[in-house]
Amino acid sequence: MKIAHISDLHLSGSYKRKNISALKRVIKHALENGADHFVFTGDIADNAEENDFLLFRKILERFNLLSSDKTSIVIGNHDIFGGAQTAEDVVNFPYRCLKTNYAEKVKLFTSFFKELFVDTVRPGTNEFFPYAKELRNTVLFGVNSIDRYSRIKNPFASNGRVSREQKEKLTLLLEQFKSTTKKKILMIHHHFYKKKDETATSESALWDKIESYTMKLRGKKKLFKIFQEGGIELVLHGHSHEIRDYQRKGIRFLNAGASIEGKTKIPSYFIIDDESLHDGKAGKSFSVELKSIPGIKEAAFIRQQKEFVLVVES
Ligand SMILES: [Fe+2]
Repeated sequence: MKIAHISDLHLSGSYKRKNISALKRVIKHALENGADHFVFTGDIADNAEENDFLLFRKILERFNLLSSDKTSIVIGNHDIFGGAQTAEDVVNFPYRCLKTNYAEKVKLFTSFFKELFVDTVRPGTNEFFPYAKELRNTVLFGVNSIDRYSRIKNPFASNGRVSREQKEKLTLLLEQFKSTTKKKILMIHHHFYKKKDETATSESALWDKIESYTMKLRGKKKLFKIFQEGGIELVLHGHSHEIRDYQRKGIRFLNAGASIEGKTKIPSYFIIDDESLHDGKAGKSFSVELKSIPGIKEAAFIRQQKEFVLVVES
């Protein structure tokens, strides 16, 4: 089975309409490359707006992907708290986060995509995270890594933390699938970079500090242990808008955060094949291929050139 991993769509009918067309092109490209299942690791909507969840539903429907056997999803920080688009938003953001009912927002998100949770295994409650979903050769595990808002510890509502309750349930779920011969992939929004990796691509020391304080996932050590003991081979995530393929503690991690928004402006995604031969890295039961669609960048470049010519002529 071929699994397409796409992340950080940041859909917004109001501010980021180009993300909508980029997403459609990425999905079309993945289907043409044989994708059987799609994984979206959070930040579906840019501003946690119901209209944008609806928009994503319609896009999935249009490609015949609005079903649990075709698509899996986890929640991102923008799906709960949104983000700031204007100067006024920046000023009001802390107040908005304080007012946000976290549990209600998670419920709203999962209710918009209830078709994608059909036949999922969830230990003992009505909560949607964590969950397990069996595919033909692989079991997918979905976790909510979005931390609650705090003026001090989570001032931009962008840090991550997996609650103790979720960690206990995930351990139970992994125990339940202990004897399966299927491979195991975990889906989560936040990244697992080492501290030095977090700062590797940033532009300034100050920005590095701000970024590492506001984008981090707390409690990674405990999560590594749960993943290792549970036999997770591959972790799919997003959150920072870049493409990364890295290993930690014998587990392979893929970041598809630049699928739609990224410095290179080239929409990209991963295709993970759970049937083909391994490529020698950790997560060796899977072959991984990075796909990108350079045509969009070329089109943007041509537009820029035209604008430049117009400026010169005037
Ligand atoms: Fe994010």
